[in-house]
Amino acid sequence: MEKEPVIIALTGKGGVGKTSISATIVKILAKEFPDKKILAIDADPAIGLGTALEVKPEITLDDIRTEIINSVEEGDTKNAMELVSESRYRIFEAIVETDNFAFLAIGRPESEGCYCRINSYLKNVIEMVSSQFDFVVIDGEAGIEQINRRVMQKVSHLLLVTDASRKGLEVIKTINEVAKEMVDYERIGVVINRIEDMSLVEQLDTGKVELLGLIPTDKNIITYDVAAKNFMELPDDTISVVKIKEVLKKFGVLNGGKPE
Ligand SMILES: Nc1ncnc2c1ncn2[C@@H]1O[C@H](COP(=O)(O)OP(=O)(O)O)[C@@H](O)[C@H]1O
Ligand SMILES: [Mg+2]
Repeated sequence: MEKEPVIIALTGKGGVGKTSISATIVKILAKEFPDKKILAIDADPAIGLGTALEVKPEITLDDIRTEIINSVEEGDTKNAMELVSESRYRIFEAIVETDNFAFLAIGRPESEGCYCRINSYLKNVIEMVSSQFDFVVIDGEAGIEQINRRVMQKVSHLLLVTDASRKGLEVIKTINEVAKEMVDYERIGVVINRIEDMSLVEQLDTGKVELLGLIPTDKNIITYDVAAKNFMELPDDTISVVKIKEVLKKFGVLNGGKPE
């Protein structure tokens, strides 16, 4: 039987470091598993992961979805589901291959109007595409919308990201509650990012969710972001890479699925 992919989805408040950590996870997985197939999905309409990993997709999943909807509205003689079926192959055109990983941008996950069948089909498409890979890393949109709309319905590892702010922690507690109902995950955990002052850590309450690790402020992340450098080239010994690797071990991603 084919092995299920490990699907790691990152979620949390805006600006807490989801994109930086997603890019770093892709870097770590590519280095640890050079023979495995890795897919990075940019699920944030703001498109940051592509910049961090230096990939420029020409089309997004949403472009394909919009094409289908437009041709339905223009009275294309084929029925909508037929067009959707054909679009299966176009999805693979939206995937950019690099030497180390593949990349897919979602664009806007869903826009107005209820094209429910098309939307739910496209969710299946994400599942279908993911099944072709060993590891999938999803950089999610800020907040709980995607969790609510079940864009991230089936993930194996749901990684809640926060900074040391009250608001960031509140958002992950809310996401945890919603995710219990809406996401079919195997593991859930929190990472607290951009910590300047380790003495504050004891006061941080992550609720009932397991704390997987703490990531200090890393000058390299700031520099790479400002200079638009490729996160794949982050040094292996920079503090964020070291700490995120520990998080992945604890999460059971780097050791064949067994938590440490
Ligand atoms: N550990 C870190 N150390 C230093 N800067 C960080 C760290 N994590 C994130 N940043 C910076 O914080 C900002 C927001 O990070 P980003 O990854 O874009 O967050 P999100 O995707 O959650 O909105 C960026 O400018 C990024 O460079
Ligand atoms: Mg982001």
